[in-house]
Amino acid sequence: MTVYNVGSINIDLVYQVPHLVMAGETLSSLSMNTLLGGKGANQSVAVARAGSPVCHVGRIGRADHWAVDQMKAAGVDITHVDLIDGASGHAIIQVDNEGENSIILHGGANQSFTRSSLESHLQDASSEDWLLIQNECNDISVALDIAVNKGMKIMFNPAPMTADVAALPLERCAVLIVNETEAESLAGSSDPTQILAHLANRYPDTLLVMTLGSKGALLQHSGQLIRHDALVVDVVDTTGAGDTFVGYFLASMIAGLDDASCLQRACTAAALSVTQSGAAPSIPDAKAVDAFHR
Ligand code: RIB
Repeated sequence: MTVYNVGSINIDLVYQVPHLVMAGETLSSLSMNTLLGGKGANQSVAVARAGSPVCHVGRIGRADHWAVDQMKAAGVDITHVDLIDGASGHAIIQVDNEGENSIILHGGANQSFTRSSLESHLQDASSEDWLLIQNECNDISVALDIAVNKGMKIMFNPAPMTADVAALPLERCAVLIVNETEAESLAGSSDPTQILAHLANRYPDTLLVMTLGSKGALLQHSGQLIRHDALVVDVVDTTGAGDTFVGYFLASMIAGLDDASCLQRACTAAALSVTQSGAAPSIPDAKAVDAFHR
């Protein structure tokens, strides 16, 4: 069994700011860091740190090889990462004193997938394997199509949400993980339990998870609704918490944990991640997470 994560790799330009910049305002940052990020890369790092093998399918500018080296050092198989001559994807991230963020994305290499590159990277994948995918790369409909045809198990985290997500074959996803905003846009309601009931009706065979930030997470599966509260922690930076959750949830499923334990482990990992700065660098290892569950 292999997890193939078709996902973005970003260079995160992270600015610590006294408050998120307002329209028309010029604001000096308090500090600046250049870090590994991208929802795809973060989720691969989270799967690896959670203890499961993961193969990242991605694209990045040759000049930013250091980011791929960091993924490898975290335990990610990077043999399916293409180094290209163009620019890498990057994100301009502001983090305020409460740990909240705002993010501007530039797709760069993440938007240069083709059907043939995806077919070639996924050629050895089979129905034993997982496709993990987010919404920061182009041609995700092609990746989903290939995975469906191969009978792969699919975990989809449609972040950031766009209007075309609803037209994708979501009913073929084994697991769909959304935050409140993404869920609202898919289901057209703002009440979390109503949203889950609505999505469960539309996608009856899919395990649905809704992350609720500092309020924890909800899971709906086979008619059962499970809630897990978040740990109370000192928040430094919320960037990448959702990605940590997704990676830990998948690795926990693969390890054979039941739904409630997967939810608990993913919530703990996400809570620990917000106590540190950065996206990928803040993802805790399994030892730190599992110490909370003994
Ligand atoms: O989810 C956090 C990530 O979103 C950041 O690492 C940034 O690169 C953007 O993709």
